[in-house]
Amino acid sequence: MNIDIEGIVKRFGKLEAVSDVTLHIGEGELFTLLGPSGCGKTTILRVVGGFHRPDRGRVLFGGRDVTALPPYERNIGMVFQNYALWPHMRIFDNIAYGLRLRRFSAAEIREKVDRALHLVNLRGLERRYPGELSGGQQQRVALARALVLNPHALLLDEPLSNLDAKIRIQVRAEIRKLQKELGITTLYVTHDQEEALTLSDRIAVLNHGRLQQVGTPHELYEKPQTPFVADFIGINNLIPGKVTALRDGGRGVRVESVVGPLEGTGDERLAPGARCVVCVRPESARIGEEAGAAVNRLSAVVSFPSYIGNTVRYDVDVNGFLFKIDVQNPGGSRELPPGSPVVVCFPTAATLVLPAEGETAAAVEGAE
Ligand SMILES: Nc1ncnc2c1ncn2[C@@H]1O[C@H](COP(=O)(O)OP(=O)(O)OP(=O)(O)O)[C@@H](O)[C@H]1O
Ligand SMILES: [Mg+2]
Repeated sequence: MNIDIEGIVKRFGKLEAVSDVTLHIGEGELFTLLGPSGCGKTTILRVVGGFHRPDRGRVLFGGRDVTALPPYERNIGMVFQNYALWPHMRIFDNIAYGLRLRRFSAAEIREKVDRALHLVNLRGLERRYPGELSGGQQQRVALARALVLNPHALLLDEPLSNLDAKIRIQVRAEIRKLQKELGITTLYVTHDQEEALTLSDRIAVLNHGRLQQVGTPHELYEKPQTPFVADFIGINNLIPGKVTALRDGGRGVRVESVVGPLEGTGDERLAPGARCVVCVRPESARIGEEAGAAVNRLSAVVSFPSYIGNTVRYDVDVNGFLFKIDVQNPGGSRELPPGSPVVVCFPTAATLVLPAEGETAAAVEGAE
């Protein structure tokens, strides 16, 4: 079932928590709302689930307007961060609860619960209580409880945030596999960019209740439209500057930046003299004397090397700007110590120039 969110506005008193958000989620898609704490992710999810009435806008399920329907008439499965299992009920009864409310026969309930337990790999644990399960197992029970009612769509609100790192990656992979197998339309909320990038078909990045950008993980990472999205998606070098020259309709850009002159690729939103932000991924930069004859070539001093195993992350100082560089570690080599003079190079193709936040607000909105 596809979900359309059209022009949703939600206010709490004076605060506008969601400002005119429009999203179209395709049948079978895993669509993620990504953004910092307080940006309105949960509020949008609750509007879709029917727990909040929007002040403006509509929600459509498969083309049908459900804005006025209560949650229990929407046939939606929800999973929350804190599992929300009933501690005094066995796993079987936790999952069977919604089926009993809907007056299924005992035999049907047994069959449906069994199938749901099988889906989330929890067969054999149905007689335990939630307190006798690990966090990852409890979250899978919550998922089974949502799936057992055969919902038209799933709403998942930070379902992995209470799990430790290793289990989180495991349950994340299970959710993805299950979602694809069932082909169930899923709206997923997280503030974790890595989680969003690995799980999603598409992602909407939000800030202060407003949509910043919608795209595939690849599109967001390769072509962020704003410095906020670039920063949030994990492009760590954001260098402020001013556009000095443009060619090719803005695709080739010269910038006078705080680290010196740079060249990169931009778009038609840029104008000569405009404030801009130059974005460089830590893995796109090279370090060392043989770094090559690139146009973007900076003298720097190693300020701090961090050994991460398969990579070494260097913070290097360029005129007071801390530039981050990830270097693949083939093993056996020693990190450059703090104070080492180095040359940093990065190709123009991997140097993205964006209008500074607010600089071309009208142009940005016009392009949407
Ligand atoms: N019931 C409520 N009454 C008043 N204000 C609310 C209510 N629910 C949310 N808010 C406010 O609306 C804004 C958006 O909240 P929301 O819970 O949607 O954020 P979020 O993106 O889910 O954040 P988090 O990542 O911390 O869960 C916040 O400023 C929050 O304080
Ligand atoms: Mg939330």
